[in-house]
Amino acid sequence: MTDLSRTDAVRRHDPAVRGFASDNYAGVHPEVLAAIALANGGHQVAYGEDDYTAHLQDVFRRHFGDQAEAYPVFNGTGANVVALQALLPRWGAVVCAESAHIHVDEGGAPEKMGGIKLLTVPTPDGKLTPELLDQQAWGYGDEHRAQPLAVSITQSTELGTLYTADEIRAITEHAHELGMLVHVDGSRLANAAASLGQPLRAFTTDVGVDVLSFGGTKNGLLFGEVVVVLNPERVRNIKYLRKTSMQLASKMRFVSVQFEALLSGDLYLRNAGHANAMASRLEAAVRDIDGVEIVRPVQANAVFAILPREVSERLQKRYRFYFWNEHTGEVRWMCSFDTTEADIDAFAAAIAEEMGRA
Ligand SMILES: Cc1ncc(COP(=O)(O)O)c(C=O)c1O
Repeated sequence: MTDLSRTDAVRRHDPAVRGFASDNYAGVHPEVLAAIALANGGHQVAYGEDDYTAHLQDVFRRHFGDQAEAYPVFNGTGANVVALQALLPRWGAVVCAESAHIHVDEGGAPEKMGGIKLLTVPTPDGKLTPELLDQQAWGYGDEHRAQPLAVSITQSTELGTLYTADEIRAITEHAHELGMLVHVDGSRLANAAASLGQPLRAFTTDVGVDVLSFGGTKNGLLFGEVVVVLNPERVRNIKYLRKTSMQLASKMRFVSVQFEALLSGDLYLRNAGHANAMASRLEAAVRDIDGVEIVRPVQANAVFAILPREVSERLQKRYRFYFWNEHTGEVRWMCSFDTTEADIDAFAAAIAEEMGRA
């Protein structure tokens, strides 16, 4: 039998090794782990009727306004699929950027689990605009076309860019005029708040967003996301959709308490602000290296670059990160709450060294 009191008996990785592949490669922030331990012990009612989930409603109302309703779920894909189903009749479609996670990285879950048609639009920077929305918002009343009745945008985007509050307002106003509802995939919403220097509600509730997938996993949680209804008059029945979409946690107190740890103080901003700062530090350290091209604005915690493929491949033997586009050779470097300045400096030095050999 394994002796679990011996850490070397259970540890299968070197906790000092961090890479740049994804912000969800990171572990759990110690304050979140401590909160989970605090919520442990004793019995609490299952399926969200516990004291932690009840209190979480207040926490979310503080951030998003008195009308906000918080529905904890297991993961980001689940949050998106639950939220989008609530916006649409069975004949509905969602307009999103071609680069949207719901389109590219969810294995077809919105289509398969939600029966939702996605209508995609190419964008230069991962961001929709009212004009780009119009490319797909047509065919109303035509029974041959899935009806574009919702739009989904991502903040911060999959390309590491940000919408301003005004840009989101322009989208929501246009969408609402067309009879569409608006979802924000906020898997990295905290990174946006830290970078914009604005409260979370300033670029969600206050600019007309109807429903939000609020991320925690990429910002220091063990796991968990929250579907946040911002407009309960238009977005209903999440609790039924959450259950039938297999996103209802029986031991929900352990998801809820993590969000309390993140959002009741400033942990969400500390973590996200730090990750953003590390991305800026990385950009500053490598942008003048000959042959390294930073190809997108660094506005959150991601850096996208193009460098010679053989250099990237050699670097990948030293640090984990992904090719974003195999065709162009673009790579993505993600920073997380636990990326250190020393990690950045060592990685930048490795990039310079490998470029020197190119
Ligand atoms: C923008 C965005 N949305 C949603 C998700 C989905 O999260 P999960 O992997 O928890 O399903 C991710 C994860 O990478 C993401 O980057």
